[in-house]
Amino acid sequence: MMAFGRREDHTASALPAVLLTLLLIIGAPAESAADSSPDPCDFPAIFNFGDSNSDTGGLSAAFGPSPPPNGETFFGRPAGRYSDGRLIVDFIAKSLGVPYLSAYLNSIGANFSHGANFATAGSTIRRQNTTLFQSGFSPFSLDVQTWQFTQFKSRSQYFYQQGGFYKEVLPSEVYFSEALYTFDIGQNDLTAGYFLGMTTDEVKAYIPDVLNEFTTAIKSVYSEGGRYFWVHNTGPFGCLPYVLDRLTLRAPEVDHVGCGTPFNGVALKFNSMLKDTIAQLRRELPLAAFTYVDVYSVKYELISQAKKYGFEHPLMACCGHGGAYNYDRNFGCGSKMTVNGTEVMLGKSCGDPLARVNWDGVHYTEAANKWVFDQISEGAFSDPSLPIRMACYKHSP
Ligand SMILES: *[C@@H]1O[C@H](CO)[C@@H](O)[C@H](O)[C@H]1NC(C)=O
Ligand SMILES: *[C@@H]1O[C@H](CO)[C@@H](O)[C@H](O)[C@H]1NC(C)=O
Ligand SMILES: *[C@@H]1O[C@H](CO)[C@@H](O)[C@H](O)[C@H]1NC(C)=O
Repeated sequence: MMAFGRREDHTASALPAVLLTLLLIIGAPAESAADSSPDPCDFPAIFNFGDSNSDTGGLSAAFGPSPPPNGETFFGRPAGRYSDGRLIVDFIAKSLGVPYLSAYLNSIGANFSHGANFATAGSTIRRQNTTLFQSGFSPFSLDVQTWQFTQFKSRSQYFYQQGGFYKEVLPSEVYFSEALYTFDIGQNDLTAGYFLGMTTDEVKAYIPDVLNEFTTAIKSVYSEGGRYFWVHNTGPFGCLPYVLDRLTLRAPEVDHVGCGTPFNGVALKFNSMLKDTIAQLRRELPLAAFTYVDVYSVKYELISQAKKYGFEHPLMACCGHGGAYNYDRNFGCGSKMTVNGTEVMLGKSCGDPLARVNWDGVHYTEAANKWVFDQISEGAFSDPSLPIRMACYKHSP
């Protein structure tokens, strides 16, 4: 089941097509896979909810752009993402034949004809009691994202019916029931407690409350007609420089890789409870199909075996400034400083993000995001074990 493809292996995804062709040529036996395998789902749109792991411009639209060198690898300019290039959600869109998602909050040049993205960097599931300016957490928590979605649906339909230009940039009504709804959120809820000085046990104790809010959000989308849910669990944030740099003084245990054990323990606890929550949602929302995706295992494999997959320095930020992890919270990726009247860039790119896992101490590089997508897209880390194009089904065939 845990079949990790090597990075340079481009043949893996071509294999099923070859097999299928062979089956067609030699004539399929009575109970062949070709007979019983259902059609792909043909999702016409994606609606995404989440944090910076899937923000394609939301926080930038609201609070100012992500600075260069963000975007240097793929877009050639900052593109609202906290990465040198594309995110997992971009690779999902590409694989489903849907354009990269515009952020709902982006009022300039946005095109929502095939979906919208409600994620913003720093978003949590639960509302935080601090402002962005105090703690860095986004005011667009998951409940707010679902209100935005509800409003997006009703207002887009009001305008869509007027036709003309609106028909070009807004989704048609049937898309809301046929779309894939993707979620990648929770990491910031877990770090928030630590940043407030809580112990690991105190953080674990509020996980049920976080997941109650998650359930409420899913039910809200379901009540608007959403049926197909693709949910990423949370990653091994104990391996990220911003956690290692800020929090390991208080909880210093690290594993053989160098990742903070208590933090990854909390992530694993959250993930096991998230899986239970999704099992419960399947019982309560029988018309919905839920796919739970174990992104944690894929990211941890990449970080712990980086060399094997063609990457180096997995615990170091590519873009940053100083310290053991090339990460300084006061001088992040793209930050500048004026020295003797001259502006100097402190948070510079390492120059080879294609060989790096971590981009800026908090987020992954495009190369890492692509690698993770390649591992999860065929269902090897999903429950049920279905490729993403089959995520409208409830069971594997
Ligand atoms: C915010 O404060 C309220 C009221 O004290 C509390 O119930 C809630 O749990 C707090 N939220 C978080 C995320 O700490
Ligand atoms: C919006 O995107 C759709 C689908 O890619 C495309 O057909 C349409 O021309 C775009 N419209 C504008 C105004 O960008
Ligand atoms: C700034 O200028 C002063 C005076 O020329 C010089 O001594 C100092 O080293 C300079 N600082 C930096 C960081 O270049």
